[in-house]
Amino acid sequence: MITKKPINNSKYQKNIVLTNTGRIAFKHILKTIFKDNKEGFILLPSYIGITDREGSGVFDPVQEIGINYNFYRLNNKLSIDFEYLQFKLKKIKVKALLVIHYFGFSKNDMNFLSNYCKENNIILIEDCAHSFNSYFNNKLLGSFGDFSFFSIHKFLSTVNGGILKINNEKFFIEDIPNNEKIKLNTLEVLYKSNIDKISELRCRNYNHLFEKIRDVTWLSPMYGKLPEGIVPMNLPVLIKKRRDFVYFELMKRKIPTISLYYRLIDEISRYEFSEMYYISNNILNLPVHQEIELKDINILSKVLREIKINN
Ligand SMILES: Cc1ncc(COP(=O)(O)O)c(C=O)c1O
Repeated sequence: MITKKPINNSKYQKNIVLTNTGRIAFKHILKTIFKDNKEGFILLPSYIGITDREGSGVFDPVQEIGINYNFYRLNNKLSIDFEYLQFKLKKIKVKALLVIHYFGFSKNDMNFLSNYCKENNIILIEDCAHSFNSYFNNKLLGSFGDFSFFSIHKFLSTVNGGILKINNEKFFIEDIPNNEKIKLNTLEVLYKSNIDKISELRCRNYNHLFEKIRDVTWLSPMYGKLPEGIVPMNLPVLIKKRRDFVYFELMKRKIPTISLYYRLIDEISRYEFSEMYYISNNILNLPVHQEIELKDINILSKVLREIKINN
């Protein structure tokens, strides 16, 4: 039939929902998965933070929906310990698995993970709150799982914004309330933003900073050189001694940094996941975002070199 103008929106649309935050997107994913029955567990990674001001972007939705949860072990690069995962799967009935691409990096073989979940009848959710435009083997992170979600305000200068992506046609997200939808000004920023340029600048900044700090003896970058396809959220380093001292020294010199996550949720056992507490106590995430200039990185690395770590 010939029509004057297009009349079918749904035909050529991406299967996404634009939300006010990443955690709202995650909440609706959980609601959809556990709608008919709340049986089965969601398996969560054992590195999840919380702050008094912001709560926990990952754990709050799990508690709000009121589902069974359990944690799996990660290695020192924050990627999945598969042996442990298999051990957990034998012990409890897992319905969904959450994988977090920490700081924009993907240290998991996502093809293997997605096949593994399919074979074991587990719904895979990718938390891309830290990874806005990162790829694994030439495929965008966020397109491997049955669902994924993103956090716009962690990459663009907006105060909020989330994206929920459905990759499995079997699932359908029901309409969400207006107050949980993306705000117009966030949508405008998203639409106008040059994501390729922003990604390029983040990579440039990471590489420059990495070269400048790689010989500083008291810190070690968690991931080394930037792998192909990765757009970093920041440059995470581990500082064996006196991380907080370094944080405050930088702060004094007007260089704000963050420690993702300096406090883990209490539900993560200190005994079972002690390595995660080591990371939590020693991590510092250095800024590499698009507004940082090369001269800023030179200042940051100079200041880092001047800091004396004494016992
Ligand atoms: C790994 C991770 N997932 C999800 C979220 C939630 O994102 P948002 O702040 O957009 O709700 C956050 C941040 O809080 C996060 O760090």
